[in-house]
Amino acid sequence: MPKDIWIIANWKSKETLSDGLNWLSLVGPNIRKDEAVKVVVCPSFTSLEEVKKDILAGGYPLMVGSQDLSPFPAGAYTGEESAAELRQFVDIAIIGHSERRKNFGETDGQIAQKVKQANKFGITPLVCVQSADTPIPEGCKLLAYEPVFAIGTGNPDTPENADQVAKELKLKSKQEINVCYGGSVTSENITSFLNKPNISGALIGAASLDPNEFNNILQAVYNI
Ligand code: PGA
Repeated sequence: MPKDIWIIANWKSKETLSDGLNWLSLVGPNIRKDEAVKVVVCPSFTSLEEVKKDILAGGYPLMVGSQDLSPFPAGAYTGEESAAELRQFVDIAIIGHSERRKNFGETDGQIAQKVKQANKFGITPLVCVQSADTPIPEGCKLLAYEPVFAIGTGNPDTPENADQVAKELKLKSKQEINVCYGGSVTSENITSFLNKPNISGALIGAASLDPNEFNNILQAVYNI
């Protein structure tokens, strides 16, 4: 395979701990020890610790991500999950997902703060951008282009347009970045996105919840 690929499962607020552990038992053994294909699961905060333990116990080559992270350092910020705490369990953090921008009023300024916190504690920030015009925060090396119309709708962007947006994002970034695509990715369409030269992975919501479908996605990626 010519480039590094990120396959990132975003469980959102949908997967209970027992469903998540069942998923791990069915998907974990199918993840190959392949440096070029990085597989990440992003459970909700309540499941992070147990999921991490289960991955270590099973010896699965699977990284863990959080779906958000506090813009503040550790301190008196009730209800927040600081990077200093999260680093016990996670390798990466999804930051600036459009659902957070829309439902929680998250701003580009807060997103930039979150990226800073993540980097300070060795967590890779995966910043979601909705178009080529979304600002790219300083210190961000991994993006997910996720057009709002494609999220949870079964109506993905075309691989051609996603590739064009990824190309523009790469040109505009001050440093070298990898760009993933997200929005209605399935085992049927993932290959058409990953075959594009500027797309380095996929952020997958609905299709990541079903262990059989996620195994099909992995199989499609390993077959490229
Ligand atoms: P979807 O979600 O795959 O269900 O469209 C993607 C995302 O929101 O990250």
